[in-house]
Amino acid sequence: MTTGDSGRTARVPTGGPGDPAISQRAEEELKERIRKGHILESPDEMTPGYRKAIIVQLTVQADTELMSAPAYWMAARHAPSTNTQVSAHAIIQDELAHANIAYRLLEDMGVSKERLVYGREPHEFKHPYGFDQPLDNWAELVVANGFFDRAGITLLGDVHRNTSYGPLKRALVKIDMEETFHLRHGEVWMRRLARAGGEATELLQRCVDWMFPMTIEWFGLPDDLKRHSGQLDYRLKGLTNDELRQVWMSSTVPLCESLGLSVPAHYDADSDEYLLDYPFPCEYDPEAKRWLFEDGEIGWGAVFERWKGRGPMNEIYVESIRRSRATVSSWLG
Ligand SMILES: [Fe+2]
Ligand SMILES: [Fe+2]
Repeated sequence: MTTGDSGRTARVPTGGPGDPAISQRAEEELKERIRKGHILESPDEMTPGYRKAIIVQLTVQADTELMSAPAYWMAARHAPSTNTQVSAHAIIQDELAHANIAYRLLEDMGVSKERLVYGREPHEFKHPYGFDQPLDNWAELVVANGFFDRAGITLLGDVHRNTSYGPLKRALVKIDMEETFHLRHGEVWMRRLARAGGEATELLQRCVDWMFPMTIEWFGLPDDLKRHSGQLDYRLKGLTNDELRQVWMSSTVPLCESLGLSVPAHYDADSDEYLLDYPFPCEYDPEAKRWLFEDGEIGWGAVFERWKGRGPMNEIYVESIRRSRATVSSWLG
């Protein structure tokens, strides 16, 4: 092998399985087969690079589904009636099943579900910062369905259409159908609250004010700053972060405008894109649930620091997932 442009001494290939040139060739060959449409059906077919990339993707997916459950569960207490609370609980049940599907796929790759759910510190979970926030009333729950679940279906719909891993592609059929129901629940209720006028509409607008930029940030680094993505090379997804952000805005902005809600973004006919009307990224005050537009743009380093520090509900949500297990174990001795 050679070390390319690094100027280090070239090494003679050993031909053994640990040889970096052979490993690199195996990665490139797999990428080439995937480009031609190959679908992997088992972890046995994965190269180390593929395996690492899909483990990262599935861990984020599983953790996001899992942490949405306590966030929605605590908000469901504010449901306006028994039947609306049952609808919210049906969504929570779906989310737990979605989490289980992703953790189960990780188990096929030798990753312990037990360790992922019970063996990590709360800040080690990989869900987005949006699911570290409290949802304090029914309006926040339904806007979470309208915005966060829409982000979920935007991301997972793209994975479903493009993934090169067969078992995940098939599992996503059920998940995407259920996510569509969650999204419709959000839209129907947003419409009701928008039509109600007065206090209900003001509350809805306040939700949109903090949850719209929260979801925009969820899609991550802009493409011009993003490091080379193994997830695209191995076709674990098809669209870039900026493309996914555009897909989300292309349905969210018209929805909000049709409901008379103001959003900090608009469609630009010249570029045929949705543009943000605020400095992106910018700082967030979690106590006040307010984005500090007036302080201007910040670097992504500061965003990653905030994400790493996690949000106000991180430990509470993780604890709520684990609590019953310790209690029940103590009853059983
Ligand atoms: Fe879900
Ligand atoms: Fe959902």
